[in-house]
Amino acid sequence: MLGRVKELIAEVEEFKAKKVVHIEEFRIKFLGKKGIMNDLFREFKNVEPALKKEFGQLLNELKAKTQEKIDSAKEDLESSDDAKSVFGDLTRPAEPLDLGSRHPISIVRNRIVEIFNRIGFVVSEGPEIEDDWHNFTALNLPEYHPARDMQDTFFVQTNPDELLRTHTSSVQVRYMEDHKPPIRTISPGRVFRNEAISARAHCIFHQVEGLYIDENVSFADLKQTLMYFSKELFGKSKIRLRPSYFPFTEPSAEVDIYWGLETETDYRITKGTGWLEIGGCGMVDPNVLKNANIDAEKYSGFAFGFGVERIAMLLYQIGDIRHFFENDVRFLEQFKADLK
Ligand code: DAH
Repeated sequence: MLGRVKELIAEVEEFKAKKVVHIEEFRIKFLGKKGIMNDLFREFKNVEPALKKEFGQLLNELKAKTQEKIDSAKEDLESSDDAKSVFGDLTRPAEPLDLGSRHPISIVRNRIVEIFNRIGFVVSEGPEIEDDWHNFTALNLPEYHPARDMQDTFFVQTNPDELLRTHTSSVQVRYMEDHKPPIRTISPGRVFRNEAISARAHCIFHQVEGLYIDENVSFADLKQTLMYFSKELFGKSKIRLRPSYFPFTEPSAEVDIYWGLETETDYRITKGTGWLEIGGCGMVDPNVLKNANIDAEKYSGFAFGFGVERIAMLLYQIGDIRHFFENDVRFLEQFKADLK
């Protein structure tokens, strides 16, 4: 019995560790709950009385030496050359942190907002689940108006008065209800339409709505504002306003910007014309002002709504709208440089 403990002491003295796991294995073997040390202490009562004292001393020695060995082995490992090269060199470059990127839609939305901020437009927002009044009726689109068909709508099944907003024009109404003219506001947001998904259309997309109400606002002001916007965002001020119809504006126009035909994507996105429609605009219909309790005799104003995906596709030469919603990291990673 004494001989066995002496052998164990020798084993402990010889122990060397190359890795932290070896030290841990060694510790468990000797000092663990089911380890050698505990076994030996249990043996203690079976030892002849005459040998008890020596046995006890040897046990204590074994235990102390084991602990010492563990401590010194750890210290040796930490100060070894290998470890030093990892922990000791404070000039080593840190682990590379993967930089995230903003979503291209956020980048473009922020740029649009910033351009309008500069000429005094403030940001406003509204709910994505909207009521019939703000999305349609107040915008001069009463129930059964055929123009409602222009925007295929997702209704909330449990409540026929609730729907997913089909455009950010709903925020115009909310803003006019809460603010007195002069009004200059820009409302970015997500909108929903019950449409088949393709390379050019999606059932979820983003718009920015603009609204300007004051005394003596004219169509010339609208055109000038749109030219300023196009120049700031695209570096091109050649725009075209095509007569159109929206129930909430009179007169109404479609806004095209002249992009040119330099790349294959330009051809695809502009259908070979060089012109791209980015949204609609017009002079706010007096009925809409009245619905929001604004004096239509005294005030006039213009409004516009742009599709953010359209603009992003043009700016970044993206040929398929679905890329924005799939969140494929290989696609998103390309926007790292643009952290604004
Ligand atoms: N709400 C329209 C749409 O989603 C876009 C639009 C057209 C907004 C003309 C306007 C506007 O503010 O004046 O198709």
